[in-house]
Amino acid sequence: MLAEVELAGISSCVPKRVVTNKELEALVDTSDEWIIKRTGIRSRHIAVEETANSMAGLACKRALASAGISKEAVGIIIACTVTGENLTPSMAGSVQKALGVKTCAAMDVSAGCTGFIYGLITAASLMHTLKAEAALVVASETLSKYADWSDRATCVLFGDGAGAAVLTRSEKPMMHFPMLCASPDEADVIVIKKEERPTPFNKKINTNTEYLRMKGREVFEYAVSAMEDALNALSLKCGSKPFTKIIPHQANAKIIDYVARAMNLRPEQFFVNIDEYANTSSATIPTALADAYQSGWLEEGDRVALVGFGSGLTSGGVVIDWTMPKKRSGENGRTYN
Ligand code: ACO
Repeated sequence: MLAEVELAGISSCVPKRVVTNKELEALVDTSDEWIIKRTGIRSRHIAVEETANSMAGLACKRALASAGISKEAVGIIIACTVTGENLTPSMAGSVQKALGVKTCAAMDVSAGCTGFIYGLITAASLMHTLKAEAALVVASETLSKYADWSDRATCVLFGDGAGAAVLTRSEKPMMHFPMLCASPDEADVIVIKKEERPTPFNKKINTNTEYLRMKGREVFEYAVSAMEDALNALSLKCGSKPFTKIIPHQANAKIIDYVARAMNLRPEQFFVNIDEYANTSSATIPTALADAYQSGWLEEGDRVALVGFGSGLTSGGVVIDWTMPKKRSGENGRTYN
């Protein structure tokens, strides 16, 4: 059961270094025109001095400031990532350290690009179970470190970044119709194999390279059907109070166009910022939420559907009644500093 929670703060943090499509022309046999036409991507932020954990910490500090909440109120930290810095401790633990939160529940969630939706629903459920007053949900990724920069079919698609949200208790439930789904990736369409070292008991040489490998066409088909299924299910559940805005996972602008056309939805109902960030995996939805809020696209009273899909193969969605008042100018920031 979800606690009666609302989204009280939202923020993002992206690396300073912007890499344009033109720059990638020097690395692989591609063109600005091909990338824009097939994906909608124009640039991406790439981590240089930043790490997935350091961006997560900064995004959380900004989210707490945006909510006007002190770190002492945080009872739960959920970090969503597939590119965290350590096998252990968790990214959530490193965020707790960066914030200086003395005691709370802290753990990571790995659900590919659907990670933030999994994290949001997990946090809201745990708020009920643990009777917590506030929770932090952060998604942070540095996929650039796992991209094969000699493979034009994948390296142009990804970027780095983090987004964080604060959940607090509310009188009325503001988060509705949680949906989480996973089906086996039988054909290994999105995989990053971990590198393993030989041991004294098993000396076989492992050739894993820790590069992201993807079967683009198959993922495209899965993405379109997963997003359509999730939106149809949420739409049915909303009944007479439909969502009017959608923040989808940003993997390819063509996937979003395709779904909009198939479902007879207007393109302006979708928030799209893939042109600036590319695909930052689990971080795409919270960074889009932060941009949608900070730009004034999301307004108090809006009913917005969040939908995602990703490796696993996972998918999920949730509907949020947006209660945050108009953004105060000067609040927050996006770039790492
Ligand atoms: N520049 C120039 N040409 C390219 C590039 C590139 N960057 N990449 C591929 N091509 C070429 C291919 O080699 C191929 O050439 P060929 O016809 O001579 O063989 C041609 O373009 C067409 O390739 P396709 O793969 O058929 O191109 P498509 O239109 O399907 O676009 C893409 C590829 C963008 C990857 C698309 O399939 C896609 O977006 N798939 C979904 C990706 C996705 O959602 N990923 C989410 C991953 S989940 C996660 O985030 C971890």
